[in-house]
Amino acid sequence: MSRILVTGRIPDAAVERLRAEHDVDAWTGAESIGRDQLLRRAAGSDAVVSLLTDRIDRELLDAAGPRLKVVANVAVGYDNIDVAACSERGVVATNTPGVLTEATADIAFALILMATRRLGEGERLIRSGDAWKWGMSFLLGTGLQGKTLGVVGMGGIGRATARRARAFGMDVVYQSRSAVDPGVAAELDARRVELDELLEIADVVSLHCPYSPATHHLIGARQLAAMKPSAVLVNTARGPIVDEDALATALDERVIASAGLDVYEHEPRVHPALLRLQNVVLLPHLGSATVETRTAMATLAADNVLAVLRGDQPPTPITR
Ligand code: DGY
Repeated sequence: MSRILVTGRIPDAAVERLRAEHDVDAWTGAESIGRDQLLRRAAGSDAVVSLLTDRIDRELLDAAGPRLKVVANVAVGYDNIDVAACSERGVVATNTPGVLTEATADIAFALILMATRRLGEGERLIRSGDAWKWGMSFLLGTGLQGKTLGVVGMGGIGRATARRARAFGMDVVYQSRSAVDPGVAAELDARRVELDELLEIADVVSLHCPYSPATHHLIGARQLAAMKPSAVLVNTARGPIVDEDALATALDERVIASAGLDVYEHEPRVHPALLRLQNVVLLPHLGSATVETRTAMATLAADNVLAVLRGDQPPTPITR
């Protein structure tokens, strides 16, 4: 029987799956596990089921010790894991691609609608109790039909967001390391462009690339200035892809019209200037937050652990 550390609350179904075969230490504290507890409880583990808020670095791998065989992240993004350090030690790292694609694309599109139709402003107005009255020019937003969505990072979530955009009558351009399958490009009528062109022509720019040193501050002051003054920026990927200081200034000075954010550069802290602005919609990292999706993510992470502990290839390793 192996020892598995689950670093946070995950759906019971996944914990039970692990418990049926192994000894599980599941953190159930109301607050997320602190660094000290994480290091202490990882010691002697054969497997760690981690959340995106856990830093899985050399210190953690050292603390876990030589028994550690697998780190299974309950997230598609894995910028919290030092994958190279895992590989050096022969620790398999896994993530949960696929199962959160639709839920995250839903949130990206919700942000697109909220930002373009000024839904956050409308909601805040009603809740404020201030007087309001229907009027021809009251809280006017902009429509999506005939506009262009620019997808940065055309993986599964980018493609799912593009599909939604097509259903709303939008055109799609995308920037990605590789071209999408010709069938998908045809279905979405999507044209691959360089980032500079995308920023220039898109009415909505939606970020779906992974976070890495290469995408740190991919969107900064220069890129924001290249966007249309009427454009909207949406980020459901990772906060540090956007230079939040530059974004707050661009929104304040109307360099771009608005933004919709689900993720933050220094999460969970939100840039104070963003909190003061009306033209930005702010969500607390809800991309994958549905019962169905979180259950599927945790179950996939459990399956990854069980496979590695059995000596099999896990379903979704980060590196093959
Ligand atoms: C992920 O899986 O990377 C998402 O950010 C979780 O919501």
